[in-house]
Amino acid sequence: MSKSIVILGIESSCDDTSAAVLKDGKILANIVASQSIHKLYGGVVPELASRAHQQNIIPVVDQAIKQAGISKNDINAIAFTRGPGLMGSLLVGTSFSKAFALGLNIPLIEVNHMQGHILAHFIDDEGKTKPPFPFLCLTVSGGHTQIVLVKDFFNMTILGETIDDAAGEAFDKAAKIMGLPYPGGPLIDKYAKEGNPKAFKFSKPQVPELNFSFSGLKTGFMNFITNETARNNNFVEENRNDICASIQSTIIDILLSKLKTAALQTDIKHIAIAGGVSANSGLRNELNKLERELDWNVFIPRFEYCTDNAAMIAITGYYKFLKNDFSNQAATPTAKYDLNSKTE
Ligand code: KG4
Ligand code: ZN
Repeated sequence: MSKSIVILGIESSCDDTSAAVLKDGKILANIVASQSIHKLYGGVVPELASRAHQQNIIPVVDQAIKQAGISKNDINAIAFTRGPGLMGSLLVGTSFSKAFALGLNIPLIEVNHMQGHILAHFIDDEGKTKPPFPFLCLTVSGGHTQIVLVKDFFNMTILGETIDDAAGEAFDKAAKIMGLPYPGGPLIDKYAKEGNPKAFKFSKPQVPELNFSFSGLKTGFMNFITNETARNNNFVEENRNDICASIQSTIIDILLSKLKTAALQTDIKHIAIAGGVSANSGLRNELNKLERELDWNVFIPRFEYCTDNAAMIAITGYYKFLKNDFSNQAATPTAKYDLNSKTE
């Protein structure tokens, strides 16, 4: 029997500090420390995020190793997020990973965060089927909105993406306009469950091809709230559930209408979603409906693998390990990182 491969994954690209231990494709531990400090500011403050990562990284790694029931000497390689993300945040995970790998004398593997979101579908998980290649992945997070043609583990083509705000940003900004704390996506999801999605209508953008735009929706939404509040000061409180359901269903419609076009154009019926917004229950429900209506085969990640986590970095590291794609001590973080960039 061949020897097991144990990967320590490290994620620190935005405001979640996370460490995961993966053994032969299975997750033994996935610890995430979310930073609540940003709630006060209505969005992620990069300098505060970086400082919080510095405080969290060692306890989070320590907890992951303990929970996995392994010793640090069992780790075969450390996979870390090299980008894309906030520079100060990425630096913490990268520096920690380099130092720990040097101390343990084991190889380093650099991971593209967006590939990680997609490859989270390949974590061994009882009762979950992995998408067969080629498949389409709608990757929707706080920083990105992309339709990706996934031909193989490391052969991905972006078919369309946002030309301005990301879908997660649209959720967070709408929430902020309504006076809800950051991150607003999960709160809008919660209130939307009790509301009428047809109560209010917002105009949808006309963007060519498979690209997206959310900045017009944000402005339209802001004007709508300003005008209604001028008439009735309690408009938001009195209509919160309906407003949330309406803005959420508009965002979902925008996403799914492009996804349907992409599926038709590529003649692919294996459809996955990934990234923080894939935790949205409205999006998950609508996709399940489309699976029945359009004869799609839909792949939806477990909640813990939707928002930022190190399990997705560890599984991506595992597949890189299998093809001997290693990084080294000269590795540097990068705020922008093409989906298909090769290790430099
Ligand atoms: O993937 P992620 O954790 O971080 C980035 O890589 O950006 O995504 C975070 C985004 C935030 O905008 C957050 O509001 C959104 O995902 N999000 C949601 C939900 N859970 C997280 N948006 C809508 N509904 C949710 N349930
Ligand atoms: Zn992410």
